[in-house]
Amino acid sequence: MKIDLSIYKERRAKLLSELPDNSVMIIAAASLVSRNADAEFPFRQSSDFYYLTGFNEPDGLLLLKPSSDQPVVLFCQPRDPEMEIWTGYRAGPEGCIETFGADAAYNLSEIDQQLPSLIDGVDQLFYPLARDAALDSRVKGWIQDLAKRVRAGAEVPKALSDSDPILHEMRLFKSDAEIAIMQRAADISAEAHVKAMQQCRVGMNEYQLEAIIQSHCMAEGARFQAYTPIVAAGKNACILHYIDNDQTINEGDLILIDAGCELDNYASDITRTFPANGQFSEEQRAIYQLVLDANKACIDAVKPGCNWDSLHQLSVEILTKGLVELGLLSGEVDQLIESGAYRRFYMHRIGHWLGMDVHDVGSYRVEGEWRELSPGIVTTIEPGLYIAPDDHSVEERWRGIGVRIEDDVMVTDEGARVLTSAVPKEIDEIEALMRRA
Ligand code: GLY
Ligand code: MN
Ligand code: MN
Repeated sequence: MKIDLSIYKERRAKLLSELPDNSVMIIAAASLVSRNADAEFPFRQSSDFYYLTGFNEPDGLLLLKPSSDQPVVLFCQPRDPEMEIWTGYRAGPEGCIETFGADAAYNLSEIDQQLPSLIDGVDQLFYPLARDAALDSRVKGWIQDLAKRVRAGAEVPKALSDSDPILHEMRLFKSDAEIAIMQRAADISAEAHVKAMQQCRVGMNEYQLEAIIQSHCMAEGARFQAYTPIVAAGKNACILHYIDNDQTINEGDLILIDAGCELDNYASDITRTFPANGQFSEEQRAIYQLVLDANKACIDAVKPGCNWDSLHQLSVEILTKGLVELGLLSGEVDQLIESGAYRRFYMHRIGHWLGMDVHDVGSYRVEGEWRELSPGIVTTIEPGLYIAPDDHSVEERWRGIGVRIEDDVMVTDEGARVLTSAVPKEIDEIEALMRRA
C-alpha cells in the first residue's frame, strides 16, 4: 500500500503556494549510514524529503522556488550501469522529471555549480537550520560562493529561515490518504500484538515474542518497524526504553510490548501489557485497570479544541488519585500533583504526535500557548505506571510492575477515531483471548 505519486505533487504545490514569492526551500534526502566496512544499515529516507517527493534514493536534494518557471528542482544520484549492478536501479535526472514530477533535475555532481545561482538574490532561504552539519556547511559554501561574486552582480540570500514551521505544520495534519495508510499500519500491528498474546508461553525468550511481531508485520507488507520494538517481561517493563529483549519470560510476569510497524514511511505505535500465564494477579490487575481508566478517559477527552496539555493533566489526575486509593502514594491528591510526587510512577507524558516519524513533527505550542487539537492531527494516548523493582517505599507485592497502554488516535470533527482498536485492552478480553489460545 502506497501513497499515490500525484499526492506528492499536490503537497509541493501547496507548499510552493505558502512560501514567500522571492524565496527558496531546500530539503535534503538521507544518506546511507555505514554499519561497518562496506555494510550499511537499512536505508530510511528523510521524512521531509519523502513527504514532498516519494523518491526513495539516498543523497538527493529537493529545491523549491515559487518565483521560478521551474519551481521544482531535484538533484539525484547519476545513472551508473556499473554501480546499478551492485546497488540497484537509479532513476537519474530523467526519472526525477518523468516519474517524480520535477521541472528540472541534475546529477548530484552538479550541485555546487547550480546551487549558488538558484539561490542568488532570494529574500529568504528556507532549510532545516542547524539540524545537519553537512547541509549547514554546504549552504555556507554556496553563500560564500555568491559573496565572492557580489561585484559581478551576485546577491547573497537576505535571510536564512528554518523550514520546519511551514513544512512540519503541513505534515501535522493528515489527509484521507495518509489516514488510510496509517490505519493499515495500525491494523497490521494490532494483529501482530494479538498473535504475541496468543502465542506467548512462560519459558520463551522476549526476542521470540519480538520475532512473532516482526514476522507478522513483514508477512503483511510492512517490512520495517517504525522503531525498535520493546518486549519487556517482568521488571524490565519498568525500563522505559528497554530494547535488549533477551530475557526469559517467567511465570507471573507481566509483559509489556511496545511495537508498531511502518508502512510507506508512516508509523503505528502500539503498547499492550498482558500476563505471561494469561491471568492477571490481584496487584497487576489493580495497576492495569488504573492505567486503562486513564487511557480511556483521555481518549474520550480527545476532540477539536481540546488543549494538548489538559490531556496530560487529566491522566495525571486519574493516576494520582488511583495511586492514593491503592496506598502507593499518601497525602492529598492536589498536593501530590503539585509537588510532582506522582512522577516516581508516571515519568513520561500522555503521548506525542504520530505520522511519518513515530515522534512526529509539528509544534506542541502555538504562539506561546499549548496547541488545541484539530481534525487531522494523530496523537498517541499512552499513560503508564512503573513501580521500580527496588522501590522499598512500597510493599513488596507491588514492586517490578510496569504497565503502559498505548493507542493511536486521530482527531475528527466528532471527537476521536481510535486507529488501534483492533487489539484488545480490557482485562476480560485479554484473559479470554489468551485462554482460547
Ligand atoms: N514507541 C515509542 C513511544 O511510545 O513513544
Ligand atoms: Mn508512543
Ligand atoms: Mn510506543
